[in-house]
Amino acid sequence: MSSTTDNKPTFDEFDEINNPRPDECDFDRIVDTAISRRGLMTGVMAFGSFAALGSLVPAGARAASDRFAFTQIPTSTEDAIMVPEGYKAEVLVRWGDPLWSDVADFDHATRGSAETQARAFGDNTDGMQTYSIDGRTILVVNNEYTNTDIIWGNREGGKAETDDDIAKGMMAHGISIVEIAPEGGKWGIVKDSPYNRRITPKTEMTFTGPAAGHDLLKTDADPSGTTSLGTWNNCGSGPTPWGTYLTCEENFNGYFSASAEGWEPTPELDRYGISAADWGYGWAKIDERYDVSKHPNEPNRAGYVVEIDPRDPNSTPKKRTALGRFKHENAECVVANDGRIVVYLGDDERGEFAYRYVSNGVFAPGADTDSLLDDGTLYVAVFSDDGTGKWVALTPETTGMASQAEVCIHTRQAASAVGATTMDRPEWISANPNAPEVYMALTNNKNRGKKPNAGGDETPVGGPNPREANNYGQIVRWRPDNGDHTAEGFSWDLFVLAGNPTVHSDAYGGSDNVTKDNMFNSPDGLQFDSNGVLWIQTDGNYSNAKDFEGQGNNQMLAGDPVTGEIRRFLVGPKECEVTGLTWTPDRRTMLVGIQHPGERGDSHWPEGGDSVPRSAIIAVTREDGGLIG
Ligand code: FEO
Ligand code: CA
Ligand code: CA
Ligand code: CA
Repeated sequence: MSSTTDNKPTFDEFDEINNPRPDECDFDRIVDTAISRRGLMTGVMAFGSFAALGSLVPAGARAASDRFAFTQIPTSTEDAIMVPEGYKAEVLVRWGDPLWSDVADFDHATRGSAETQARAFGDNTDGMQTYSIDGRTILVVNNEYTNTDIIWGNREGGKAETDDDIAKGMMAHGISIVEIAPEGGKWGIVKDSPYNRRITPKTEMTFTGPAAGHDLLKTDADPSGTTSLGTWNNCGSGPTPWGTYLTCEENFNGYFSASAEGWEPTPELDRYGISAADWGYGWAKIDERYDVSKHPNEPNRAGYVVEIDPRDPNSTPKKRTALGRFKHENAECVVANDGRIVVYLGDDERGEFAYRYVSNGVFAPGADTDSLLDDGTLYVAVFSDDGTGKWVALTPETTGMASQAEVCIHTRQAASAVGATTMDRPEWISANPNAPEVYMALTNNKNRGKKPNAGGDETPVGGPNPREANNYGQIVRWRPDNGDHTAEGFSWDLFVLAGNPTVHSDAYGGSDNVTKDNMFNSPDGLQFDSNGVLWIQTDGNYSNAKDFEGQGNNQMLAGDPVTGEIRRFLVGPKECEVTGLTWTPDRRTMLVGIQHPGERGDSHWPEGGDSVPRSAIIAVTREDGGLIG
């Protein structure tokens, strides 16, 4: 979400408002780097993908790709899903749909209770994967957060009035695991499946890896620092090669508040955006562990990647601390040439970093995989303006920290200590299945070149972050040296600079693969399909005005990694974000997440009329029943 004409702050802006960053910047360094932007252009040209920044190649100048099986659709501001001719979109599951037959259907008047919500599909669908288990199709989905105006829209001013209201909000968070099956030619959920499960902020999980048992994780409720209660603000996801699900804790900070008068965060908590006030969820009112003045270590127990085994509904999820603590977007696993596991990770906040984890052990199908995400090295990316970059290991030696546990808990500070490159809000990362290259969405960063990040690191204009006050975003891609994902070095270029060529004739118009017909802003979800098409989902400004005129609602596009062509495939309903993408195992149905339709009050999707807008997953199929990625 970004600013629209409305004055109400969006979710992304909340953190900035509650935790304003210092205004001072090293002006000289910014100017120096801006001048060296020629270096970026060299990097871009090296891959031959674009003309130089700011040039505008007319629409249609690029040869049409035959990789896409569909005709591009126009933008839309309708309260509906738009897909190309020959395709159809149907709702699979919505916020509040019961996962068991003894749970009441969603009630539009009350919007449910804590009891019904705990056993129903959670809110604000995000990252997801399907699994084939015992001949069944199991869908695992993150439920990232709630919009207070919607979940408490039955209350005065959209504010919780009872403890049950707050608990209902809490139970709408976490993960929904649900079997899905085709019935009468249409996919639906299977109530009462033995695999159905809700994971919530109350689900017990264990810490593993270097930080497990560290003093900074110890609390009154868990003096051993090894047992966590729950997960929340689960954003992106990632499948592992051994059939588990990685869920990524993102804006975990917004749930903590302090009851003590005059409480101030320590610098360590401040770096992660913990403040005296929460973002309106009110959890400390019903669960004291969210009161950071009473339990100052509790925030150290969130911000991790959590591994879940969908095969065993009784399994205990594991918080894998070796993958670091930050506002995790997704976790993209790759098996390197030598069998080691590489996980690419992004920290979605203005001016935070891109990371990589490399396991010590190798993956062998059927062998024990339990230590692969505990025992390894965490790296952070340093990008150079000349189109190269390197991964810098985060260890006590490189960071000056006392232990690897501390590196894994105060990962942002560790990355700052080694001079990592501040990025324009890393969102999803996806690896091309057909080539050793990795794509990362940098959604936008209004502070680029204007304000340092939360740790005071400068945010100079340059490298993969080439525009000051970047409100459109870009997608950077890198190719590891020698095609080896464990290599220290890589080369990079920009796959696309989003922009608006009808409003701007400079770099804000976008790269030459952006035209008036396919333009968009704020790339966020990225997912390659099995054919090597890069699907791009947006979480941007949907005002359709000024800088964003002609861009309409949030959308999903397909990108060709070889030619650079980008084509719009789907447009979502009003005020939604399009996020989360997976396929049924037969690749004939694409599942797409529609998050927070009507987040500002102007949608009744999917049911229409006067209904409550509900986040939902849609099933997109070809009318001829053909393959769809
Ligand atoms: Fe939950 Fe950065 O998106
Ligand atoms: Ca996202
Ligand atoms: Ca986003
Ligand atoms: Ca969102």
